[in-house]
Amino acid sequence: MRRQRSYCLLALSAAVLVVNTLQEVAAKDLRHVTEPKIPPACESLKGSGSDETAVIQKALNSCGKGKTVHLASGTFISGPLTIPSGVGLWIDNEVVLKATSNAKLFDNGKNLCGTVSTQYNGCNPLITMKNVDGSGIYGKGTIDGQGGVKLTAKTESWWDLAHEAQVKNQYQNNPTLVDIESSREIILYQVKIINAPNYHVIVGNTNGFTAWGVTINTPPSARNTDGIDPGGSQNITINECSITTGDDNIAIKAHFAPTRHISVTNCHFGPGHGMSIGSDIDQGVSDLTVENLVQQNSLNGLQIKSDRSRGGLVTNVVYSNVCMRNVTNPIVLNTQYSKTATGNHIPEYKGIVFKDIEVKTAGKFTFDGFSDAKPIEATLNNVIIAKGSTWVTEHAKINGKYVVGSGNKKC
Ligand SMILES: *[C@@H]1O[C@H](CO)[C@@H](O)[C@H](O)[C@H]1NC(C)=O
Ligand SMILES: *[C@@H]1O[C@H](CO)[C@@H](O)[C@H](O)[C@H]1NC(C)=O
Repeated sequence: MRRQRSYCLLALSAAVLVVNTLQEVAAKDLRHVTEPKIPPACESLKGSGSDETAVIQKALNSCGKGKTVHLASGTFISGPLTIPSGVGLWIDNEVVLKATSNAKLFDNGKNLCGTVSTQYNGCNPLITMKNVDGSGIYGKGTIDGQGGVKLTAKTESWWDLAHEAQVKNQYQNNPTLVDIESSREIILYQVKIINAPNYHVIVGNTNGFTAWGVTINTPPSARNTDGIDPGGSQNITINECSITTGDDNIAIKAHFAPTRHISVTNCHFGPGHGMSIGSDIDQGVSDLTVENLVQQNSLNGLQIKSDRSRGGLVTNVVYSNVCMRNVTNPIVLNTQYSKTATGNHIPEYKGIVFKDIEVKTAGKFTFDGFSDAKPIEATLNNVIIAKGSTWVTEHAKINGKYVVGSGNKKC
């Protein structure tokens, strides 16, 4: 009898182990991702400091698959560029690709780009990769959006327009820097993306995206300048990133399709609105691992935000080995991001694991589930928070406990 029982227990714990292991494996990019290599150049260009949109675009269009247009030296000014399938743009060390300050060159036909209006989406992005496979941007050079520079024949910069829009409760029509849509296996490697007029990188409806060694740096005062926004996308790796900006450092959305199998590893976040999921998540976000993250001087740390107009299921999310300092809201799980929202897309967050988290300075922790029927379900495993912190839970089932004190993480 006794023997039988211990066999049973053994089998049970083996089964639990298998289930746990499977879950851990699944909460990531399913691809085996290694450090990218810069493909060989098809053509090398020298920047003259004047508008070179046509020259770069011509080189991209005639470059063979598996090759890169090499911006080898100098400064290039450019309007919208489109990277063809299989082709890369290699921005070499110390080279700067500046977005033109002439808003007209970004206009997408509605005569809105560079204006504040009740309408939005008036600009083409600086760099578009759409319906392409195996394209990318490589090299240690810089893409400078020139967000703070006065626009040609205007008295305001892109950032001024964004502030004006906030005051008027309208929209600024500013270009995104890198827009990836409906594509496969896209790479951003090493590049620095700075001073964005609007979002830095959007990854929409794309299967296979790797950002490796990418730096994003825009002042925290610049509005709506999200760092990297994957949405409706799968198999995503963001590794060794450094992101400082005026809005979400990363914002994972799911409005047109589910977003799943994401790994955010070995990153450093400065000022920004956090490692975020939301707000549009009605198609569901799942299988995300955030591992080895440092967050400093930011408004939010680990954030999930949505409301009943655009909520959905967020599940199988693991935050592991995160160190935070001077973060106002180190953990904020919010299901009523807009208090006035209406609709039946109820946000539901479950299977959210916080493991080996240390927050060095006092902050506010919020677990605000939608209702007793749809509570937040989270697990805490070795979560250390600073003395003086506020901990607020409502409609939340939390397994495990936090500890007030200080641990041995460095950040
Ligand atoms: C994600 O990657 C795995 C492993 O390479 C692959 O089997 C799967 O098809 C990919 N998913 C998508 C949606 O591309
Ligand atoms: C804390 O972060 C804020 C920005 O969120 C910054 O203004 C402030 O200087 C930081 N404080 C310290 C002590 O670093």
